[in-house]
Amino acid sequence: MEQKKLDVVLGLQWGDEGKGKIVDVLTPSYKMVARFQGGPNAGHSLVFGGDSFVLHTVPSGIFREGTENVIGNNVVIDPVILMNEISKIENRGVDINGRLVISKRAHLIMPTHIAMDAASESAMGKSKIGSTHRGIGPTYADKTGRYGLRVGDILQDNFKALYEERKQRHQLLIGQYPPFELPFNFDEYEKKWFQAVEQMKRFPFIDSEVYVNAALEKGVPILAEGAQGSLLDIDFGTYPYVTSSNTLSAGVCTGLGIAPSRVGKVYGIFKAYCTRVGTGPFPTELFDETGESLRQNGHEFGATTGRPRRCGWLDLPALKYAVMLSGVTDLMMMKSDVMDDFATLKVATAYRYNGQETKQLPFAACTETMEPVYTEIPGWQQKIEGKIPQKLEEYIQFIENYVGVPIKFVSYGPDRTQNIYR
Ligand code: IMO
Ligand code: MG
Repeated sequence: MEQKKLDVVLGLQWGDEGKGKIVDVLTPSYKMVARFQGGPNAGHSLVFGGDSFVLHTVPSGIFREGTENVIGNNVVIDPVILMNEISKIENRGVDINGRLVISKRAHLIMPTHIAMDAASESAMGKSKIGSTHRGIGPTYADKTGRYGLRVGDILQDNFKALYEERKQRHQLLIGQYPPFELPFNFDEYEKKWFQAVEQMKRFPFIDSEVYVNAALEKGVPILAEGAQGSLLDIDFGTYPYVTSSNTLSAGVCTGLGIAPSRVGKVYGIFKAYCTRVGTGPFPTELFDETGESLRQNGHEFGATTGRPRRCGWLDLPALKYAVMLSGVTDLMMMKSDVMDDFATLKVATAYRYNGQETKQLPFAACTETMEPVYTEIPGWQQKIEGKIPQKLEEYIQFIENYVGVPIKFVSYGPDRTQNIYR
């Protein structure tokens, strides 16, 4: 008998591809949306009814009535951020009761994890990761170091003791770092943290792997929502300038507890150009007026940290690599409208490094001086309104031919209605 499958949405670049919008747009076809990795380093923006909303931890299906939302086991949760987000959602009049469940196995970001993130970044100086300062790295490090604190622990009688034990260990470690500035009031945050932990208890803490698999068996259509992007993947991204989880379709299996054979469609989201926040290699980065136009037209400022995003041309070898890693079945191109006025566009089709031309990102992408090899493509120079201009169609086909996967969907604005299906 054919196995029932779930579909996946994930980012193919360095994050901020527009995953939130896509999940929101696709959700009417699904009954359950599940986040499988990352934490509040994510900032998923949704725009509808002339209003916008940024989600960090809650799955982007929350604004569609009748959708169940699951925070999976490989998500890391800061209770303060989660509960803040929930009160904002409820202030919008959205009824979240009975629509959000949290994996017992998800790890908790402690205030000391945030402090460790700050200490580590500050100590690294110029070579810092440029993290979101949400404590992501230290929390995952504790998880793999087998010293983490999990959502299920909240329900244990000795939760406070477990917390204190970890806090003390963290403080010892923090003491090893050179002096640094703590970007928040620790005692205040800790107090809020414990309040938020109490408030979290109104949501069911569950064995989400059993829950999701049972739903799959029943034929409930499920969408898994990725955070960050393929080039930020801990194994295959531009290490060490990456995040601390697997952002690929394989991450869905370990992040939700489903078998590889259960993965159905893989929607790969990418922008018609590239952006990156934080430090690390970015071969097609533009430091000129074109880069500035992308930033201004595309409002490329971080949804989580407000940092200006680095901008550059589309990088096809990197895109093809990401498509390969996740077995992408459907491509979705975002923010095409940002380049409406451009007379000419460029796309990288290869790199030159070590005196050679290649289509492969180097192992040492951080230390190699990589020079992109560009192909110029004429711009469409008109507004996209419900129909794909001929020149944009040519740009799309150029990408499809290179990558070998169809672009099924083109987004030409932030609103949930500004889309063309191909
Ligand atoms: P969404 O889900 C863009 C980047 C940070 C930094 C690196 C490591 O909105 O696409 P971390 O705090 O994870 O330890 O930071 O990863 N980063 C993101 N960049 N979008 C994101 O999420 C990101 N989440 C993390 O800027 O370079
Ligand atoms: Mg984002």
